[in-house]
Amino acid sequence: STTDTPDGGGADFIVVANRLPVDLERLPDGTERWKHSPGGLVSALEPFLRSHSGAWVGWPGVPDVNVDKFDEDGVWLHPVTLSAEEVRDYYEGFSNATLWPLYHDVVATPVFDRSWWDAYVRVNRRFAEASAQIAAPEAVVWVQDYQLQLVPAMLRELRPDLRIGFFLHIPFPPTELFMQLPWRAEIIRGLLGADLVGFHRPGGAQNYLWLARRLIGLEPSRGAVGVRTRPGVVQVGDRSVRVGAFPISIDASGLDTIARSKETMQRARQVRADLGNPRKIILGVDRLDYTKGIDLRLYALHELLTEGRVDPSEVAMVQLATPSRERVEHYQRMRSEIEQMVSRINGEFARVGRPVVHYLHQSVDRKELAAFFSAADVMLVTPVRDGMNLVCKEYVACRHDLGGALVLSEFAGAAAELTSAFLVNPHDLDGVKNAMHAALTIDPAEGRRRMRALRRQVLTHDVDRWARSFLDALRPSTQEALI
Ligand code: ADP
Ligand code: G6P
Repeated sequence: STTDTPDGGGADFIVVANRLPVDLERLPDGTERWKHSPGGLVSALEPFLRSHSGAWVGWPGVPDVNVDKFDEDGVWLHPVTLSAEEVRDYYEGFSNATLWPLYHDVVATPVFDRSWWDAYVRVNRRFAEASAQIAAPEAVVWVQDYQLQLVPAMLRELRPDLRIGFFLHIPFPPTELFMQLPWRAEIIRGLLGADLVGFHRPGGAQNYLWLARRLIGLEPSRGAVGVRTRPGVVQVGDRSVRVGAFPISIDASGLDTIARSKETMQRARQVRADLGNPRKIILGVDRLDYTKGIDLRLYALHELLTEGRVDPSEVAMVQLATPSRERVEHYQRMRSEIEQMVSRINGEFARVGRPVVHYLHQSVDRKELAAFFSAADVMLVTPVRDGMNLVCKEYVACRHDLGGALVLSEFAGAAAELTSAFLVNPHDLDGVKNAMHAALTIDPAEGRRRMRALRRQVLTHDVDRWARSFLDALRPSTQEALI
């Protein structure tokens, strides 16, 4: 199919997300360069879009830049400009200090600020207008995530000819928590502009359907929503909106290939050697976010060391933490807490030249990450709430050797699929410690059995399958097409 062409033909397939897949970076010497954007949304969608061609509408990651659209690897990128105040009020404010904590079970207290809401409305309108402008007649527009929940309705108003999908990459909260939001009905209505609203889990879809009844007075279907099947339906005037569950995934075979390469295997051995060839390597890889439970796993390790259940001369823990949302207060607080805990563990248990915890507040490239995954004997993924969590799937995709053990929080969406992991309640510190201990001392045959089961799941449910199942469900059904 043709996509957005320089002669103005318009794009047939458009992804709309707060961020472009690349982030503009301004270096201290005044030069600029593009780098890969952080987070799971981009990790998942970028490989899919590159192989299917289309356009991507998003923000370049820094305030006040005006860049023309440009072509990157066959994808047309359409930058949307945000002012410094909009970054503060719409992005850091409403998106990341109101919606993010509210949707993650209020693990931090959400802030409700009316001027932030105004900015959210204004910026959502700008994204809707940018998408309306570049969409070909009857194009498919796929709106992403919590930052843009008003775009579906705004876009439908501008362009009723479009087929509009929406996918939420984070959890959709319990209805009691959602009801706290002063603008709750506006959000539900914003999403109703889509033809298909997708969540990771059936529970999210179910909550949304309940709210459409309670807040808007609609009559949604009452049957249970399935995974990739049996979406709920809400009739809105003469349109029917489908509401379904589509668990996202990763480019599993791409990562499997990288992990099998000589280069990665060599680099994994080097990492192990650099760490002093410890008997066991423990790994954590996250955006530095308070939902990820990085602090909890450090507390657990500290207690295991204190109790002598883990020998500091036999283990090394590596924590890679991508800098994230650094101007938001919750993030600053969490960062100091984690850094204090790292120092405390090393202060008590390290020897000169042999820290127990190696903490990098940095992001590393995909190949380097694959080497860390390949080297790690125990992978700790302990969020207190996570829509899906891709890191655990990436770890599994890298373990063609059937080595390694995964400790995974029950509160990550991925836990529903990765049932052969060591599943833990991250709030239960003794439970986390026991799972870490079990993973460190697992019998190799048992480890291989678990990893084989995990790989079967991840390799057969990749991001292509996710996107296809969503886009198939977005297509008008035969019945609708006849009307
Ligand atoms: P979230 O989207 O909340 O950040 P996910 O686990 O869904 O969480 O996705 C995170 C993505 O970011 C994964 O693709 C992961 O590999 C990547 N990532 C996280 N931390 C790092 C890091 N320190 N260096 C490089 N990539 C990272
Ligand atoms: C999560 C969100 C994404 C977001 C990413 C990185 O994955 O679901 O929408 O892009 O985190 O966060 P950031 O605020 O840096 O875009």
